[in-house]
Amino acid sequence: MADLNNSKQNSDLRVPKHIAIIMDGNGRWAKRLGQPRIAGHKEGMNNVKRIAIAANNLGVNVLSLYAFSTENWTRPSKEVNFLMRLPVDFFGTFMPDLIKENIRVMVTGFTDKLPAKTRKAVFDAIEDTKQNTGMILNFAFNYGGRAEIVHAAKILAIKAKNDEIDPENIDDESFSEQLLTGPLGDLADPDLLIRTSGEERISNFMLWQMAYSEMVFDETYWPDFTADNLVEDIKIFNDRDRRFGSV
Ligand code: FPP
Repeated sequence: MADLNNSKQNSDLRVPKHIAIIMDGNGRWAKRLGQPRIAGHKEGMNNVKRIAIAANNLGVNVLSLYAFSTENWTRPSKEVNFLMRLPVDFFGTFMPDLIKENIRVMVTGFTDKLPAKTRKAVFDAIEDTKQNTGMILNFAFNYGGRAEIVHAAKILAIKAKNDEIDPENIDDESFSEQLLTGPLGDLADPDLLIRTSGEERISNFMLWQMAYSEMVFDETYWPDFTADNLVEDIKIFNDRDRRFGSV
């Protein structure tokens, strides 16, 4: 792995506080090697550990990874079952590394709809890392941006109906607080979105939060995406002129 902290050429890198990644290309990676799609997801899972450690070493505050979308349930059941087992495998294998690296796990998604074993794996990981003060590794699992916005709207509507809030006072901030990323506070909105595999779309990921995110579409398939690719994409981000609607 690249020596990210000491590398002279990275010394002027301005590292985004929150990076979101759409980890795409697992299936094509596997196909290229003549392997089943699930082999790509397995290697994609191993790469989560490598990139999480690299991002943490760079000083990223939040790394949000799109691991399973509310639309991914429509995939063949064998693949869905495999994807549901990944958190069990991942935390079962890499928890000592996450603790050693001081990484804190968070999950944004509709966890109540997950199989019991998957839910237990993610809640145990959240519990086991809650004292850690380093990077927040945020898995978007059974996550969908539209469903998240609808969910927030319902919470606010119920509060208004119960006279707990005045609808006139709903604003960007109070709406953000009701999103699944609400606990991230000021860090909820990604500065940079990276999508691997060359596809160029958002696919229902963090729709509200990405209002002003810079987007980099990297050709690399996710299992091949390295710490050096991450640094290169941050350099592209550094060359962007972020104006947030201003001049
Ligand atoms: C998209 O690639 C990838 C996914 C739907 C799954 C991503 C999951 C991981 C990388 C592992 C997550 C790890 C944990 C611990 C939860 P694709 O299957 O659509 O690839 P393709 O477009 O090449 O077919």
